[in-house]
Amino acid sequence: MRSLDEFASEKLASLERAKLRRTPLVTARAGIWAKRDDRRLLSFSCNDYLNLSQHPKLIAAAITATQRYGMGAGASRLVTGNHPLYTELEERLARLKGTEAACVFGSGYLANTGIIPALVGPDDLIVVDELSHACIHAGAKLSGAEVYLYRHADAAHSRALLAEHRAGKKHALIATDGVFSMDGDLAPLGELADIAKRFDAWLLSDDAHGLGVLGGGRGSAFANGGARSLDVPLQMGTLSKAVGAYGGYLCASGAVVDLMRTRARTFIYSTGLPPPVVAAAIAALDVIETEPDYAAEPLRKARLFTRVLNLPEAQSAIVPVIVGTTEAALAASDLLRDEGFLVVAIRPPTVPVGTARLRFAFTAQHPEPDIERLADIVRQRVIRH
Ligand SMILES: Cc1ncc(COP(=O)(O)O)c(C=O)c1O
Repeated sequence: MRSLDEFASEKLASLERAKLRRTPLVTARAGIWAKRDDRRLLSFSCNDYLNLSQHPKLIAAAITATQRYGMGAGASRLVTGNHPLYTELEERLARLKGTEAACVFGSGYLANTGIIPALVGPDDLIVVDELSHACIHAGAKLSGAEVYLYRHADAAHSRALLAEHRAGKKHALIATDGVFSMDGDLAPLGELADIAKRFDAWLLSDDAHGLGVLGGGRGSAFANGGARSLDVPLQMGTLSKAVGAYGGYLCASGAVVDLMRTRARTFIYSTGLPPPVVAAAIAALDVIETEPDYAAEPLRKARLFTRVLNLPEAQSAIVPVIVGTTEAALAASDLLRDEGFLVVAIRPPTVPVGTARLRFAFTAQHPEPDIERLADIVRQRVIRH
């Protein structure tokens, strides 16, 4: 249709002028390497923090599961898609997180857009860290609840918003990333847990970037070194980053998990994950549970980078170097590409205007000399004091 194509073309042209048009580039990954346009680059842009997506144990588990159960789940989980591997994965996730139960969704995005509207609605209140992932904001919007954003990682601001708006609302939810995906810093989960208790609010933490990396692999709610989780009753996350597979999850009480299975629309109306994906996730949890020293490597590598660059010590496997404009971020990314590194520029609307950046993601297998060389180049040619 002409009006439709005109609309799309004009929109694309205006994004192009602002240097905000996106194009998925063909990228063939092999371990820590990525091949683009026939160039082999050392990638610092994969969330495969433990390099498990290509681990022989995951690949073998996926092949065995495919041979046994086939490639697809065939239906949603409430129909016939609940193949036997799900029970094991959910039990393993609950055990790792120390919760009564766990519920696996099709992805992290589907988890948050299912969980949040299943818990809160138009009579309720949600208080959200402003830098939370897009799927938390989407879930909050879908719920129809009244939503307030608090300043990034500012627990006092979340408390003030609850003090002002909690009265008269039936239920309240505080939602935050555990590890912020574009900044790599941690949410003040301990303080938020206290505030949640004070205002009878439910705390949801999205640990997409914490599972497998922090707290001995158990995630950011364990990052204070304790054997027990901080008091976070809703621990969601994804199986697509350190776990190296795909899917999302919620670890919570048995009652909450049962409610998800009955009411979360993204659980009910979406096909189950393919058996090989679930089998690979189980194999990844084996590695995470039995090799805590290996799970500590991404953070150690990130800290080597921040030390060489004299930046604040990394709190997770993610380190941002904010350069400001979109043009500057793209130029810095090109410069690193010419030196053999893949570090994708992150631009608005993924991050606020004026904070375009290079986002470095460290993995267990990045060699230290390469990290040091990368840091030297960034210090000499990207960071301007
Ligand atoms: C904090 C956070 N939550 C959720 C997601 C979505 O997870 P998934 O990729 O499994 O949909 C991501 C990343 O993609 C993320 O960074």
